[in-house]
Amino acid sequence: MRPTDPTFPAPATLAALPTPSLLLDVPRMDRNVARMRARLARLGVPLRPHVKTCKSDRVARRILGGAPGPITVSTLREAAEFAALGYTDILYAVGIVPSKLPQVIAMRRQGTDLALVLDDAEVARAVAAAADAAGVTLRVLLEIDCDGHRSGLAPDSDALLEVADALRSPQVVVDGVMTHAGESYSCRSDDALRAMAEQERAAAVRAATRLRAAGHPAHTVSVGSTPTALFAEDLSGVTEVRAGVFVFFDLVMAGIGVCRTDDLALSVLTTVIGHQRDKGWAIVDAGWMAMSRDRGTASQPLDQGYGLVCDAEGRELPGLLLRSANQEHGIVGRRDGAPGPMPELPVGTLLRILPNHACATAAQFDGYHALGAQGEGSEWWARFRGW
Ligand SMILES: Cc1ncc(COP(=O)(O)O)c(C=O)c1O
Repeated sequence: MRPTDPTFPAPATLAALPTPSLLLDVPRMDRNVARMRARLARLGVPLRPHVKTCKSDRVARRILGGAPGPITVSTLREAAEFAALGYTDILYAVGIVPSKLPQVIAMRRQGTDLALVLDDAEVARAVAAAADAAGVTLRVLLEIDCDGHRSGLAPDSDALLEVADALRSPQVVVDGVMTHAGESYSCRSDDALRAMAEQERAAAVRAATRLRAAGHPAHTVSVGSTPTALFAEDLSGVTEVRAGVFVFFDLVMAGIGVCRTDDLALSVLTTVIGHQRDKGWAIVDAGWMAMSRDRGTASQPLDQGYGLVCDAEGRELPGLLLRSANQEHGIVGRRDGAPGPMPELPVGTLLRILPNHACATAAQFDGYHALGAQGEGSEWWARFRGW
């Protein structure tokens, strides 16, 4: 068992770590953060990072420049954990349901400015009733569907104004709109990404404009996914950008073309535990329990299996993939058609696997072994888990 104390010193060398372990290359992470911040600074819009990717105070502070700042969360557990650490401005960006309102109201009473998201008139009435009954002000963003990917109200729909009207109460502020262009993950060219970013912006601004015309404050216009944040050319009318996975990047993001594989800040350290040399396999102790079941690159032009294989220092081993995964076994082999022989990789060899989906892989672990510029592992950074 590893202590959850975020300052617990991790062993200084990779060889001393248990495997599988989650490694965080801090200089790469800092580079990714600087890139996003520079991009948004040019566009003149602040970042409200989605901390569902990192679920870590240490990482969140690094994104925010050292101190707690505005964040986006995907669970009330994240909201509570971050609030306890001094984060007061939190957007809970998953549709609220009435059963969760007592928890929300308790957090509001404790001083957390927790904004909610919804897209349903019945839920809106329940939120207004709960706020009135508690005498607590609730700030609500209406979720807008900008791309048919998931939930939300169409920006030109009658339903948008009906849901907003269902929130009319002295205790509820219809503070604006939020949208997430999930279809950006299916884009296959820079032009498509730029167009998707504009589609996301235009839908959110249009919805907010209609709400204002109907007498609602609608100050907040919140957009963002990592691909649209990095490819937007104009964010006029937008008041904040939510991006999350940019902090680590992953193979899915590399497949979309928003980063390179040497930008990936997360990897799983694993040990070679055996071979099936006639099949060209090395067996490692990172299966899907360590990597997650996420096969996000399977639908991309370049399928990366369960991850790209690197040596212990993080240098890619050309043509090597984690081809398949059982719970605690991974099978390393050559990509179909890759030239050259399988490297030796004696039992005990340490390898690093770059993940398909950083959020999913990180969620398999209690924390990060934070590595410095020379690859030294000096600190253990705890993560939150659960709901
Ligand atoms: C509502 C919402 N906002 C923002 C994000 C962040 O997007 P990304 O992970 O592409 O940075 C997500 C990711 O799923 C999301 O669901």
